[in-house]
Formats: sequence, structure tokens, C-alpha cells
Amino acid sequence: MMENQTVWSGARNGERWSAMAPSNIALVKYWGKRDPETQWPANDSLSMTLNVARSITTAQKIDGPYDVFQFSGQTFTSQTSPQHKVFKQLSRLKSLLGFDDNLLIETQNTFPAGCGIASSASGFAALTLAALAAYVGQDSWDHLSILGFDRNRLANLARLGSGSAARSLFGGYVRWSAGSSHDQQIIQPVFSADHWPLTDLIVVLSDEEKSVPSSTAHLAAWASPLFAPRLSHLNKRLSNVTQAIANKDMERLGEEIEAEALEMHAVAMTGEPRVNYFLPKTVEFLTWMRGERARGKLPAWFTIDAGPNVHVICEQKDAQSVQKYIQDFWPSAKVIADGVGNGPRLTKGNAVHD
Ligand code: PMV
Repeated sequence: MMENQTVWSGARNGERWSAMAPSNIALVKYWGKRDPETQWPANDSLSMTLNVARSITTAQKIDGPYDVFQFSGQTFTSQTSPQHKVFKQLSRLKSLLGFDDNLLIETQNTFPAGCGIASSASGFAALTLAALAAYVGQDSWDHLSILGFDRNRLANLARLGSGSAARSLFGGYVRWSAGSSHDQQIIQPVFSADHWPLTDLIVVLSDEEKSVPSSTAHLAAWASPLFAPRLSHLNKRLSNVTQAIANKDMERLGEEIEAEALEMHAVAMTGEPRVNYFLPKTVEFLTWMRGERARGKLPAWFTIDAGPNVHVICEQKDAQSVQKYIQDFWPSAKVIADGVGNGPRLTKGNAVHD
């Protein structure tokens, strides 16, 4: 897929547009799709938008016969890598919205990609925003909305690249409702970041890329005998989680999100094909965490996305001591201290300021 190691040097013919989009961590996971083509999820989900784990993407129109993507010192083009997920998303946007400009896309992440820290969420949110801004020549949310691209529409476009990207279009706590048909999906914030500034200590036990992409695992879920029971009580789970956030009830929230994450992984492990994202270290960490919590030492709860790394959720007042406690016991693990954030930014030019 790689073209070369050099910086692309073709002719650029437009302004640069920059988007910053944060990752998000699902407290109630999206797992399984009713329809992969339209990215219609099997269930409603709810996430916390992060702040530190971000993708920063710039888009610029270019004079040239194809789209170009630069990431991590590598250059790709839509001519030679048409199956690359970035080009598939650009070509979707072009055909759905009627644009025909080719773009130079440059991206960087503030965290390791492909290991369960939802790089596809921040990546596709930032890509969709930056590309849209470049196509229409606008960086103001109001102007985008006047042109027909309000946030819900942008979120619905972003999810076509990666489902979880939809929720990264908003700050705070965000719900993605599956709706009664694929074109009735609604993504909206349910609480602002200020409502309850929770901390997410991302414990990176391994930064190796996961062996099974989530797109494969979403399809495998239907064969699991645990999938139907999971779906049957997810609405109750969602309402419990929403209530716990409303009441700022950490213990209640913690118990719900741990059970929820383990259920998702149980479905993954019993689907067809069977998918296991846990490493031995993951299991060791979870066991240790629960033990320390039971001893009153660790007021924190976990959730885990499609990867081996653990998101440790706690209240801001406990964050420093929880982080120190983890680092003392797990000196080889990298801990990214993150927390609920305000959502994406879009600007003309290079820099995306807070
Ligand atoms: O957006 P995808 O297709 O990479 O799926 C992500 C699924 C989870 O991250 C595990 C859960 C979620 O809701 O974000």
C-alpha cells in the first residue's frame, strides 16, 4: 500500500483546512451491525468524548488526478491504494455530495493507532470534517449548517468511515441512536463535558496493532449465542448508565460499564470467527484492579474497546492518586491521562487551537 517515504510535492491549489477530532470511549458499546453497507448498528451506544487522544487532519485541494494521503512519513494515493479506508471515505463523500475535487490529506494522532484507543473514531471524524471544509470552503459550524451540514449530518457522514467516529463529532457524553431504519440514526450529546468531568486513564499494555479489525468482529457477533441476550437488555443498560451519569453516581456507573465491556468481549469471543482482544496482561490487570478496589485502594472502574488496553474511569478528584497507584504497580505500562472533552475544532490554515 505504501507509495514512498517522501513528502508529496504536487501542485496545491486551495486553502488548507484543519480539523481536530478527539477519540471517544464507549461506556455502552456499539457491537454488531444490522447493515454493514449503511453502517446501521445493532444497538444504541453512549460514549464519553475524550480530550487528549486526538487526530489532527488537514485537507487541501490539489491539481492532480487522484487523492493523496500522508500519514506517519508515508504517502498513499487513491490511484494505487483505492481500497485504503481514507480513499474509500473520500470517494463516498464525493459521490454522495457531488464533489469532484481531489484532496491532499495529512493526519497525525496524539496516541498509538489500531490498538483499541479508537483511532478510527478520531481519524474518520477529523477526516470527514477537514474534507468537508475543503470541499465547501467553510470552517464555521454555522455556515456548514446553512449549507446543510449540521453536526448530526456530519456525524452521519463520519460513521460511514467508522461507526464510532459519529460520536466524536460532539463533546461531552454522546448517544448514537440506531433509529428505526438506517437513515433515521441520530447522534446527539446527552450531557456536556462540564456536567461531570470524569477522567479516563488509558493504560497502554500493548501498542501493537490488533490482529482482527473491528469491521470483521462486528459481523462475527451475530453467530454468538450471547448476542441476542446482550441486545435484549441493552436498553435497560443504557438507561442505567444515563441515570448514573445524571446523578454523578460513580459506583453505579462503574459497575454498569464493567459488566457492559465484559459482555461485549464475551460476544466477540463466542462469535464466528471467535475474536479475542485480551492479552494475558489484560486479564492480569483487570484481576488486579478489582482486587485493589475490593481492598478500598482503587476507586476506579474499567472499560475496554476492541483491543488489549484498559480504560480506567474515575472521578477527577481521585485521578492523580489512581494514576500513581497504577504506575507504581505497572511500571512498564504507559498511562495516557485523558478525560471528557468538548469535541472537535475546525479552522482555516494549519493550526487547530483549543
Ligand atoms: O467504529 P468501529 O467500527 O471501529 O467499532 C468500534 C467498536 C467499539 O469501539 C468496540 C465500541 C464503540 O462503540 O466504540
